[in-house]
Amino acid sequence: MASLEGKVALVTGAGRGLGLACTKLLAREGAKLVIAEIDEQTGEQAAQAIRDSGSEAVFVRTDISSSAEVQAMMRCAIDSFGGLDCAINNAVRFIDRKPLADISEQEWADTCNVNISGTFLCMKYEIQAMVERGGGAIVNIGSGRENTGQAGLSWYLGAKQAIYGMSRCAAVDYAEQGIRINAVAPGAMWTPALRETAEKRPGHTDAHLEHIPMRRIAEPEEVAEAAVWLCSPAAGYVTGVTLSADGGYTLG
Ligand SMILES: NC(=O)c1ccc[n+]([C@@H]2O[C@H](COP(=O)([O-])OP(=O)(O)OC[C@H]3O[C@@H](n4cnc5c(N)ncnc54)[C@H](O)[C@@H]3O)[C@@H](O)[C@H]2O)c1
Repeated sequence: MASLEGKVALVTGAGRGLGLACTKLLAREGAKLVIAEIDEQTGEQAAQAIRDSGSEAVFVRTDISSSAEVQAMMRCAIDSFGGLDCAINNAVRFIDRKPLADISEQEWADTCNVNISGTFLCMKYEIQAMVERGGGAIVNIGSGRENTGQAGLSWYLGAKQAIYGMSRCAAVDYAEQGIRINAVAPGAMWTPALRETAEKRPGHTDAHLEHIPMRRIAEPEEVAEAAVWLCSPAAGYVTGVTLSADGGYTLG
């Protein structure tokens, strides 16, 4: 039997890239999907693709930096499918790389509002629904570079560190209530975001490859498998971990 048969799963930033890959694998495992995405076109397309493949899916247009929209996202899950069993918090707001003192205060606020506060809001309201249900699993998407320093990425890696900290502490807070909370640390993946960066910065991916022992960039599905496994009962005794799916990047 599929590992998530009949379960309700939510993915943020599900219109493209890693989020989209997660929705396909969750559907393969039998889950009903709540597709949360700020971009209406890609979000609706993602939901339609799941329905076309014979699974259930609903799209809810969501900006995760808005508390009202995150609460509406959760109401959509409950109204459509009766509750929530698993969530993959994947949405991210990117800006260009720049040294810390060149980041405007507005850019800092904008990225923190999505990448830190947005993840907090999703966790807050997902956890409330999971407590009602008697358990669940949350996977937050970090970045495989968490223990490195990278030029121009303080706005990004700072937020990812916050996500890891929130994941570990909330894992302790809710372990007794049957809610498992983990993180995935992806290495470089061929998502639209990386393709856009590679176009803007020729040589960007070659520089990455030097530091990846497997000498290749991942397909998003390879990282999605790790996130979906953490959602599944097979990971039933796993909580508070950061699972690297990075081709050995963290090994140096
Ligand atoms: N691509 C990589 O190489 C890489 C490497 C390490 C970690 N990651 C992480 O993987 C995750 C997915 O990255 P990706 O490359 O697929 O990115 P992407 O830009 O391709 O997709 C991100 C999605 O999030 C959506 N989004 C943006 N702001 C939102 C908001 N406020 N509310 C809701 N949705 C919003 C976008 O519309 C988009 O569909 C991110 O958390 C990213 O940090 C990516």
